[in-house]
Amino acid sequence: MNKIIVSPSILSADHANFEKAVQEVDACGASWLHMDIMDGSFVPNLTFGPQLVRALRKKSKVFFDVHLMIVQPSRLIHEFADAGADAITFHYEAEVHSQKFLAEIHSLGLKAGIAIVPSTPVSILEEVLPFIDLALIMTVNPGFGGQELIHECLEKVKKLAKMRKDAGLNFKISVDGGINEATAGKATEAGADILVIGSAFFNSSDKRAFVDLLQVDRA
Ligand code: DX5
Ligand code: ZN
Repeated sequence: MNKIIVSPSILSADHANFEKAVQEVDACGASWLHMDIMDGSFVPNLTFGPQLVRALRKKSKVFFDVHLMIVQPSRLIHEFADAGADAITFHYEAEVHSQKFLAEIHSLGLKAGIAIVPSTPVSILEEVLPFIDLALIMTVNPGFGGQELIHECLEKVKKLAKMRKDAGLNFKISVDGGINEATAGKATEAGADILVIGSAFFNSSDKRAFVDLLQVDRA
């Protein structure tokens, strides 16, 4: 039995008050906090960098789940590790030498993840699966919160869960984009272990009840 992890995405928080956002995440019992790092190049939006991670690290002990949506992510792995990330996930599409940089993240004592956008087939991950702690399946095209889940992406989650089982591996599967009370069950049924949730979490009036509803034991 293992618990589903809820990872609220501060992309959807009030950007004038990130301290309040981490306090809310701490207070509601969510296990992780998701941070979307966007460079305006890999994705059509800009967010924040290691300075914000470092500043928030002083405010919370929650697990920092850093999602790099940037070109050449290997350039910044050390900065984000030093700033206080607990896990670094980068995009397969953005880095030729994935295996090398997954190992480098591990050498810094962090969890290492690989992410793919909706148009990238999950089969392409086969050779890196032994080297990851988590695989993040984007369930929207990355860049913005508040988009609708692309349901076909859950088929990728199912395929990946089967690949994991067949290979006897135990990395976690994360879904990111369009996850809410209505879609979370479909994602976990497909095999997701980590639910990255932006707008549905920050728009929720009772965040503890929201997390209690989703952060349940997997049967
Ligand atoms: C999308 C980001 C997500 C985003 C999810 O580019 O990677 O983490 O915050 O937001 P929602 O849950 O609103 O789709
Ligand atoms: Zn993300």
